[in-house]
Amino acid sequence: MEASLTARDRVGIQDFVLLDNYTSESAFLDNLRKRSHENLIYTYIGTLLVSVNPYKELDIYSKKQMDTYMGVNFFELPPHIYALADNVFRTMQSEYNNHFILISGESGAGKTEASKKILQFYAVSCPSTKLLNNVRDRLLLSNPVLEAFGNAKTLKNDNSSRFGKYMDIQFDHQGGAVGGHILSYLLEKSRVVHQNHGERNFHIFYQLVEGGEEDLLRWLGLERNCQHYRYLVQVKKNLLTQTIYSCLLQGDCAKVSSINDKSDWKMVRKALSVIEFSESDIENLFAIIASVLHLGNVKFEADVRGYASLNNNQEMHWVLSPFSVDHAVYARDALAKAIYGRTFNWLVNKINESLANKDSSRKTVIGLLDIYGFEVFNVNSFEQFCINYCNEKLQQLFIQLTLKSEQEEYEMEGIEWEPVPYFNNKIICDLVEEKHRGIIALLDEECLRPGEATDLTLLEKMEEEIGGHPHFVTHKLADKKTRKTLERGDFRLLHYAGEVTYCVVGFLDKNNDLLYRNGKEVISFNFYCKKQVVTQFKSSLVGLTEILMSKEPWYVRCIKPNEAKQPGRFDDVLVRHQVKYLGLMEHLRVRRAGFAYRRKYDIFLQRYKPLCPDTWPNWRGTAAEGVQRLIKHLGYKPDEYKMGRTKIFIRHPRTLFATEDAFQICKHRLATRIQAKYKGYRVKGDYLKQREAATKIENCWRGLMARKEREKRAWASLILFLRFIKGFMTRNQPSCNDNSEYLAYVRTNYLTRLRDNLPRTVLEKDAWLTAPPILQEVADTALHNRFNLLEIKYLYLLFCFPCFQLLLKEQTSSMFKGKKENYPFSVCKLTSELTFRLRPLFLSAVTSCVCVSLPQYSVPVVKYDRNGFRPRLRQLIFTQEAAYLVEETKIKQRIDYSSLKGMSVSNLSDNFLILHVTCDDIKQKGDLVLQCDYLFEALTKLCVIANKQNYIKVVQGSVRFDIQPGREGFVDFKSGQESMVYRAKNGHLMVVSESTRTKSR
Ligand SMILES: Nc1ncnc2c1ncn2[C@@H]1O[C@H](COP(=O)(O)OP(=O)(O)OP(=O)(O)O)[C@@H](O)[C@H]1O
Ligand SMILES: [Mg+2]
Repeated sequence: MEASLTARDRVGIQDFVLLDNYTSESAFLDNLRKRSHENLIYTYIGTLLVSVNPYKELDIYSKKQMDTYMGVNFFELPPHIYALADNVFRTMQSEYNNHFILISGESGAGKTEASKKILQFYAVSCPSTKLLNNVRDRLLLSNPVLEAFGNAKTLKNDNSSRFGKYMDIQFDHQGGAVGGHILSYLLEKSRVVHQNHGERNFHIFYQLVEGGEEDLLRWLGLERNCQHYRYLVQVKKNLLTQTIYSCLLQGDCAKVSSINDKSDWKMVRKALSVIEFSESDIENLFAIIASVLHLGNVKFEADVRGYASLNNNQEMHWVLSPFSVDHAVYARDALAKAIYGRTFNWLVNKINESLANKDSSRKTVIGLLDIYGFEVFNVNSFEQFCINYCNEKLQQLFIQLTLKSEQEEYEMEGIEWEPVPYFNNKIICDLVEEKHRGIIALLDEECLRPGEATDLTLLEKMEEEIGGHPHFVTHKLADKKTRKTLERGDFRLLHYAGEVTYCVVGFLDKNNDLLYRNGKEVISFNFYCKKQVVTQFKSSLVGLTEILMSKEPWYVRCIKPNEAKQPGRFDDVLVRHQVKYLGLMEHLRVRRAGFAYRRKYDIFLQRYKPLCPDTWPNWRGTAAEGVQRLIKHLGYKPDEYKMGRTKIFIRHPRTLFATEDAFQICKHRLATRIQAKYKGYRVKGDYLKQREAATKIENCWRGLMARKEREKRAWASLILFLRFIKGFMTRNQPSCNDNSEYLAYVRTNYLTRLRDNLPRTVLEKDAWLTAPPILQEVADTALHNRFNLLEIKYLYLLFCFPCFQLLLKEQTSSMFKGKKENYPFSVCKLTSELTFRLRPLFLSAVTSCVCVSLPQYSVPVVKYDRNGFRPRLRQLIFTQEAAYLVEETKIKQRIDYSSLKGMSVSNLSDNFLILHVTCDDIKQKGDLVLQCDYLFEALTKLCVIANKQNYIKVVQGSVRFDIQPGREGFVDFKSGQESMVYRAKNGHLMVVSESTRTKSR
């Protein structure tokens, strides 16, 4: 950005703000000349565009060029009218406000061309739909129509606008051109009836005569020859003293090399139909134009009484009136002008109807003001007076909006500022429009006052009232030298753009714009204009100023490089004069000293707040504080900005552009985030809906399945119940299919009850529960058998062993999982060998006669002698109070749980366990070294019964144990290729276990 800002074109400097010698008019001119010789016709002064008329077609308005300038920051590319148009458009889009482009410059400087280029750019760059294209075509084609009826060849310009045009282009919120509206200002109607030598009437007359189809011309009674129509080639009468004192051939310029009337006619015909003129509208329109031509050919001759009579004209039937010939000619011309003027207004209204935006939704506008430029001819009349007054007003507006208001704003905002002097043309505006004293007031007064008022009495009045004004001079008031340059009927105004000498002749008539009563009646005009022409014009300019003041201004200043309309000629004096009166030097000085951009704090903050985490999404303090925080975050340097009372002022465009660029990037990021959030929200919504639907389906399905299950169960219960009943009914029969389940139930039920209600001793025969018939036999046997009780216990154990096993599993896991190598292999063992396991228990239960209480668990073990480590097969039995080591039915050692102080196992895959006991007495046996195939089961059971869950120690290497109090022994553990147990040389018991890895292999 910065690089492009300081970059220069091949020739000169593209922005005068960067000119070193910016106060020098010559340097300014040099730059302009250099660039225009290289066909670089555009140069900036900040955002103001200076355009020099090249007077030749340049290849810089192609579609490709338009694309290049679309959406690019203003200073990134060489200056161009498209850059300005694009910048205005994008500012309007982003700030949602209205704008206008004021195109100014003298006649022939290129204002109309510039406005057309802007319109063409919007036509291409704006979004297009079928509807929008319709509006676009109408906007574009309104130009050739209005130019045909409102433009004419003058000495200054072959296509000079003879009316002022302000066009609003209306855009919808997406930037589509949705409509337009045109305001027209004071058409130079006098041109209809006479033109200066070398000038033409309005284009449409020539287009119709030259290009009109044969049928049409025949119908209109026209011939294809402009020379036949006196309004197109006419003798001019100078009416200074109401007598013809000079006869000049005027107009007489039907053919102009730069104008092709035939092709222009076709364009106008096409445009009229696009703008929705009906065929009858078009016919009537051309009939009126033709009638004006015919009217011009009406000749009068004085009859014997001196009254004008029609000179044997077949087509026209004139109302007899006691007019002199001169009066009749005057009335005829007045009528022709009035007809044409009204037709032009009707045309503008028709175009406006067709451009009207039917959609009332929010819209913003860009206004294009292309008004007749300041002009000076050899003889200047009422029309030039109005045109130049209009240019004074626009210059005043420019001064108001740029030089004056800008400097006043700095003052108001408390920004340090050295005032730039400039010429304020208010003094000239006042001279023309001041109430009661201004030229317009005097002119109106003279028109309305009773008595003999003439143009000369007006001149006298002006001399009387404003004679001393520094910008006004007449032949009478002038000094000797000046007097030589003035005619008696002239007055001279010193305009902002230079001196213009006006011939007062015709001022009153033109201002009255009178139609003789009879004329009006003939063509049914029913208007009596209360206001004079110039006053109406003044009011319409006040209205225009109000319209413009409510919008953001942009400027194109057009410069005419030479009077000869020649390409490649740069007349220094002419251009210097324009640079001066257009106020370009002052504008440059204000720009250089001032700030390129300013915005109210709240607007600036609103736009750029996403760029700082402190201000996004909301800033709680004042807008000024927010802006201060924001620019601190953005790293603005102190000389790059100033904080005013209500606005921030940014000195260089590059600072703003860098901020804007950052904003654009950030905007996309934010948009993506918002989009993502929104998408997430949408997807989540969808997901929740789906989940709800899935849950509903699931619930329905489950409900259905549950109902089915319930029905199944109900059915099964019924079947079982029936079987039960059947079993019950056949319970006393021998075991068969019908009663087998019932009998099993009876058996289990009896045994369970028996378990809970066993007699205390076998001798309590009567205390036995009465057995059901199915078990009667067993019960009887039991009663007479010394071991029957144990049989029953055996049966019971058989019955509840699986439950016991499950319980065991969980506890074993918590004690050994991950600690002892062979734990994983032990798990499957727990459920196997049931009968084998229970049998010893049963046998050992025999011992319970000797034991104090009932055995809870029994397991075969190998016991190693404490001395010599000889292995011996033993049974280990756990009762509620103690563990017993039993050989057959003989108790070898009793260990009270209270004296059990620990249990040690190795971390390897051996099956050894050492029970550590407290032994104070030397006669007592010491710790037990055991090997057990059901190690985990036995230890778990022991822990549970003795309630010693935390007493198990899993050790590595070696375990020390007490052989007897005071004597210690050791068991060493290691892993090897195969399992071995032997007494090592050091007297320790060495236990080698096969490693699990070898095992698993
Ligand atoms: N950018 C341009 N490229 C080529 N030729 C141009 C350009 N601008 C102006 N011209 C030429 O200059 C002529 C006069 O331009 P234009 O009609 O725009 O002047 P104007 O300022 O509107 O004058 P007026 O006040 O009389 O209406 C055009 O007809 C065209 O030949
Ligand atoms: Mg023009």
